[in-house]
Amino acid sequence: MVVEIAPSGPLEGVVRLPGDKSISHRYAILAALADGATQIRNFSSGADCASTLAALGKLGITVEREASQVTIAGGGLEGLRAPEEMIDAGNSGSTIRMLSGVLAAQDFRSRIGGDASLSRRPMDRIIRPLTEMGAVIHAREGRFPPLEIEGRPLRPITYSLPVASAQVKTCVLLAGLFARGRTTVIEPVPTRDHTEIALRQFGAAIEVEGSHIRVEGPARLRPGEFWVPGDLSSAAFFLVAAALVPKSHIRLERLGLNPRRAALLDFLAGMGARIRLLGLEQAHGEVVGDLEVEHSPIRGGRIEGPLTAALIDEIPVLAVLGAASSEGLEVRDAAELRVKETDRIASVAENLRRMGVRIETRDDGFFVPGGQQFNEADLDSFGDHRIAMAFAVASLAARGPCRILNAEAASVSYPEFFDTLQSLRS
Ligand code: S3P
Repeated sequence: MVVEIAPSGPLEGVVRLPGDKSISHRYAILAALADGATQIRNFSSGADCASTLAALGKLGITVEREASQVTIAGGGLEGLRAPEEMIDAGNSGSTIRMLSGVLAAQDFRSRIGGDASLSRRPMDRIIRPLTEMGAVIHAREGRFPPLEIEGRPLRPITYSLPVASAQVKTCVLLAGLFARGRTTVIEPVPTRDHTEIALRQFGAAIEVEGSHIRVEGPARLRPGEFWVPGDLSSAAFFLVAAALVPKSHIRLERLGLNPRRAALLDFLAGMGARIRLLGLEQAHGEVVGDLEVEHSPIRGGRIEGPLTAALIDEIPVLAVLGAASSEGLEVRDAAELRVKETDRIASVAENLRRMGVRIETRDDGFFVPGGQQFNEADLDSFGDHRIAMAFAVASLAARGPCRILNAEAASVSYPEFFDTLQSLRS
């Protein structure tokens, strides 16, 4: 699908985001392992979370879905059955990495793979700890999907994550639910803690002490009723769009503002963005709130160290803002961007260059000088949802209409994105 985006006048309106992708995956998997039926409202509308639901279905779990409401009939830790065919994780790194932690503990063998992009993403980061726990895993070239997982009774381990990854942390903690005794994960820098929060909500024995996260197995999870906060990473496209397009004013309602994710708001405010927080509440241990954002001059910024992990999904759209800022954007310590749905350093650089914007890339980051204009261009998502949406935002501020090839990729996390963006245009 090619989407054409013309330069935009002020963006105005109110947006309610679909449920957070990260939290939706976690609630679905934990619900499948709980003792009874769990209801999840405002479940993510993205294809990635649908991949997780379909995978649970293949493992014998009854999943009912009506729009954004999902009911999952959990059968306890022992309630899964051997899949008849390969589990398809689609484009979803979260699905394959998190579910592998569960599959590793089963008394059956399973295969899990995905699309061409997923098949290029590294899985050695989960194979290593799961093998240490006792599972036997075969992978293409030892590290790429598809994975063949021979489940085993697992033993608990203490595992220091070599890379900052909430997906790997989650994989090990999920496996730890099945292992008799205490499994500990040690993080090099803090990553999103939705798993820790959700595990507590489902009644698991979980303890967090600084960078050490401990879970006690075998666990019993209790089912419940959950509501998923709006997805802040999807909201980031509107936050940047409003900051970028003169006279814009957007209100975003009932967003997830977990402190490990909301670093984005402080960072944008530090760049000069005008964002107002309108009240906070809690939902199942997660912080939720409304935001108002309006156009303002943007200075520039630098993302490095622990901040890189906190902003990892937002860097493509922040690169766009950086080009339009007065001082530009420097990104370091972001080698992880190279192994996302695409090599995001390369995808961002290619699209910016097509728009006539200068960028200097490095192995682990880039520098986009500020004060630049976006020219009319033919752009490409390269099959990456966040690249599609980041460059839709850049197109709003371009000198002429831009076309985005493979724009349908946006539906991996946010199928309604282009319609919602259109509804904000005056
Ligand atoms: C996610 C963790 C991050 C993030 C991804 C979702 C999660 O990946 O980029 O979009 O839900 O745990 P890594 O764990 O690979 O950093």
